[in-house]
Amino acid sequence: MTDWYDHPEYFDLIFADETDAEVAFFEAAFEKFAGRTIQSVFEPGCGSGRLIAAMVDLDYEATGLDLNQKMLDFLAARLEKTGHSAELIRGDMSAMKLPKTYDAAFCTFNTFRHLLTEEDVVGHLRSLADHIEPGGLYILGFHIIPLDADEEEVEQWEASNDDFTVDATLAVIEFDRDNRREKLKVTIDVTHKDGSTDQIETVFPLRLYTCDEASEMLQSVNDVWEIAGIYDFDYDIDEERDMDDDLCDAVFVLRRK
Ligand SMILES: C[S@@+](CC[C@H](N)C(=O)[O-])C[C@H]1O[C@@H](n2cnc3c(N)ncnc32)[C@H](O)[C@@H]1O
Repeated sequence: MTDWYDHPEYFDLIFADETDAEVAFFEAAFEKFAGRTIQSVFEPGCGSGRLIAAMVDLDYEATGLDLNQKMLDFLAARLEKTGHSAELIRGDMSAMKLPKTYDAAFCTFNTFRHLLTEEDVVGHLRSLADHIEPGGLYILGFHIIPLDADEEEVEQWEASNDDFTVDATLAVIEFDRDNRREKLKVTIDVTHKDGSTDQIETVFPLRLYTCDEASEMLQSVNDVWEIAGIYDFDYDIDEERDMDDDLCDAVFVLRRK
């Protein structure tokens, strides 16, 4: 068993296809909802930096924070190759003391559900608020799992680059509604162009949310964050969603008061 986050080169490929749609949505949301011009952006849990690199390419000043040094090293090397730069910080997103303030932040694809306790979740949202300027945004995307959802879900992705093909399977192996935890197993099978193979297996917990629990969580910080818009993983700026039990792939656009 290893940590899939210790393999940024494989991790990065799995989600690469989503990047363009996410970045286009970020810019559309900045335009539609921000009460200030967005020039500087921050990503907690930036990982291999597909989003930071794309935002830097668009001339935003970007800062990424992650717990995993291998992810940050991968991102630093990626930026160096393109002659771009970003500030990279190794740290925990549950309570952040950052060197400056930003116009906007984003955190998509369930990274937020790595925060397992109420204390860490609220600590994250409040410490981020301390570093986002009034009128600035936080784009926060994560799965909401309704009470009648299938608990045994399995998802699979395949992706290739010039060097290898990655086949990733994500399965829910434990589901505990009372303690608001699910345990996921990710299996990554890698086939290199020379025929050699590699397998990585990781088990990790994520916090569970129903729609009501997500609402309560956002209400608990509504002195600093207001909900400006609600979307889903289609990332269509013209298609706002309601906060109801049909909202599973939620993307909240929060605005700093
Ligand atoms: C699902 S990956 C997402 C990476 C990136 N945001 C993306 O969309 O490609 C989650 C990342 O969050 C990081 N992470 C998990 N818990 C964290 C914490 N408490 N503080 C900072 N980073 C954390 C992991 O190391 C990993 O790189």
